Amino acid sequence: MALLGATGSIGTQTLEVLRREPDAFDLIAIAGGQRLSELAAIAKEFGVARVGVVSEDDRRTLSGMLGAHTEIVVGAKGLAELSQCADVVVNAVVGFAGLPVTIGALEAGRRLALANKESLIAAAPLVAKVRATQGAQILPIDSEHCAIHQCLAGSSTEPGHPDVRRLLLTASGGPFRDWSKERLAEVTKADALQHPTWSMGPKITIDSSTLMNKGLEVLEASALFGIEAERVDIVVHPQSIVHSMVEYVDGAVIAQLSEPDMRLPIAYCIGSPERLAHGWGRLDFTRSFSLDFQAPDRNVFPALDLAYEAARRGGAAPAWLSAANEIAVEAFLNDQIPWSRIVPLVAQVMDQYEEDPLESLEALFANDATARRLAHGMVTH
Ligand SMILES: NC(=O)c1ccc[n+]([C@@H]2O[C@H](COP(=O)([O-])OP(=O)(O)OC[C@H]3O[C@@H](n4cnc5c(N)ncnc54)[C@H](OP(=O)(O)O)[C@@H]3O)[C@@H](O)[C@H]2O)c1
Repeated sequence: MALLGATGSIGTQTLEVLRREPDAFDLIAIAGGQRLSELAAIAKEFGVARVGVVSEDDRRTLSGMLGAHTEIVVGAKGLAELSQCADVVVNAVVGFAGLPVTIGALEAGRRLALANKESLIAAAPLVAKVRATQGAQILPIDSEHCAIHQCLAGSSTEPGHPDVRRLLLTASGGPFRDWSKERLAEVTKADALQHPTWSMGPKITIDSSTLMNKGLEVLEASALFGIEAERVDIVVHPQSIVHSMVEYVDGAVIAQLSEPDMRLPIAYCIGSPERLAHGWGRLDFTRSFSLDFQAPDRNVFPALDLAYEAARRGGAAPAWLSAANEIAVEAFLNDQIPWSRIVPLVAQVMDQYEEDPLESLEALFANDATARRLAHGMVTH
């Protein structure tokens, strides 16, 4: 296995699954960003032969910690190399930086256990091409998509799943579920970093607070399952026990349930087609609990409409949405803009989008750079 993004929230939980499976998996490659001491500790614990870092400086520092017997590769090229060296590749990098892993693993015909939704969303038409490589497979770690993957077992194998009426993505609603627009104007960083049901990295936690995460997940579901975004609906479900559902044309709804625990979808993706007998997130049906569902408030959370609009426009529009959002979230986390400015800033960038069918990686990088430049400009002004 290769675990890229090993030091983060998904990375750390993947390591917990691996510790329970010492004989089933051999971790041969890892990569990370800033946290070099953590990366070195993982390399030592699992005897990892190849490690990816972001810069030459990091390579020198890590080499001092690990010694000459560990091969250290650098940057996007290094990530692409590592993504091709293992049978199972976990992409747990955050943001567009995870693109070389998604493309590299699929090009090499590997099984990609994908947490990094941003790469799939931005590059959907290009990912669709490399996904046709013999042996290539995507298994989604994102809990909602992992649930849908399981609920689709036995569904039609025809493109577009004609026996499916719609996918129902559940959303906890984030920390501000019942807040009014007025109250949302006062949100602080501490409020936004407090997710009610999941403990995750900072970027996805902020995305969950604006519901941009759910918007991105609509695009992710559409790309993963080949189902138009209009057939992907969002249902707010505060308990985060039903991880998503599939409604079939006969009216039957199939759901996947567990306590919120990312180790369950991680274990599902790396263990497939077997189920690893760990019981992460097992539900206790001897205690009473309730399951509530309601529609999201699209007026209060306009990120959802932005995502559906990006899906409707297709081409590079999702790449713009995701890139502008990355810059806006980073600016919020750096105290440059208030929370209430994140989504309007993304909307302003999207207003400037000009249609591009996104036919090459070069076009993707150009679109990504333009959207980031526009977003940066809006942050500094
Ligand atoms: N956390 C969850 O529960 C959850 C659930 C569903 C989906 N996801 C998705 O999974 C992905 C990871 O999320 P997370 O919450 O685990 O994020 P996170 O805790 O911030 O971790 C991100 C990981 O990416 C690494 N990284 C950042 N830039 C990199 C680069 N240029 N090259 C190599 N590694 C780099 C980080 O390294 P350093 O920490 O060393 O800087 C860290 O290991 C995101 O796409 C997110 O949307 C997460």
